[in-house]
Amino acid sequence: MRLILLGAPGAGKGTVAKLLTQIDGSVQISTGDILRGAVQAGTELGKQADAYMKAGDLVPDDLIMGIMETRLQEPDCAKGFLLDGFPRTIPQAEALKVLLNKLGIKLDVVANIEVPREEILNRLTTRRTCSNTSCQAIYNVRSNPPKVAGVCDKCGSPVIQRDDETDEAISKRLDTYFEKTAPLIEFYRQEGLLLVVDSPASEGVVDAIQQRIAAGA
Ligand code: AP5
Repeated sequence: MRLILLGAPGAGKGTVAKLLTQIDGSVQISTGDILRGAVQAGTELGKQADAYMKAGDLVPDDLIMGIMETRLQEPDCAKGFLLDGFPRTIPQAEALKVLLNKLGIKLDVVANIEVPREEILNRLTTRRTCSNTSCQAIYNVRSNPPKVAGVCDKCGSPVIQRDDETDEAISKRLDTYFEKTAPLIEFYRQEGLLLVVDSPASEGVVDAIQQRIAAGA
């Protein structure tokens, strides 16, 4: 499958993407995970992105498009891809459209995961993430804790709170989402690709996406 997952910070994009990868081997491409990996590795990209991320701001579009132009042409994307956290602005969406046309790739669906703001705040303050950048498994101390507190079930690395999970950064990320990313909902509605999903369970979101893809196939 080839799809975009839209939604506010904490809507569950990463959780749903990980479930979808188990269905047909499509790869999850999370720009947030790529950037956190670059920050931890201390690469030039990571140095440029770090301050934006800690403050809850978006990383500049040209840096993101540089990453994605390369990533989408890697061989594993031939099986399908789930874009998690990209595009995030209208210029990114327009650049992606040009890139996909050039590569001859059609998207199946753009799923917007809708979650009430109060629930989003709950989820973000209780989320924990595996600190191993090649794992980045997602947990929640309330709804999905690791089996051993503080230890990743999958790779045994410490499970931590992200640098952008301070109250100040969460509030800034939500403001940035409504200003810069929410307009993508209308963009993709006009492209005829939008699916709005408001299931409270991630499995319900996955089912709705599969049904839409099956109906369109
Ligand atoms: P990114 O990593 O993309 O963060 P985000 O969009 O803010 O999304 P999150 O990862 O916070 O949430 P999510 O929707 O994936 O939810 P999750 O599944 O974890 O980006 C981070 C930063 O990188 C940005 O602020 C920006 O600086 C930069 N960046 C990234 N991409 C960029 C781009 N394209 N352009 C510019 N800058 C970019 O779930 C959240 C929690 O809820 C978890 O604890 C989970 O267990 C729990 N949960 C999930 N689903 C459910 C459910 N159904 N019921 C109960 N709990 C649930």
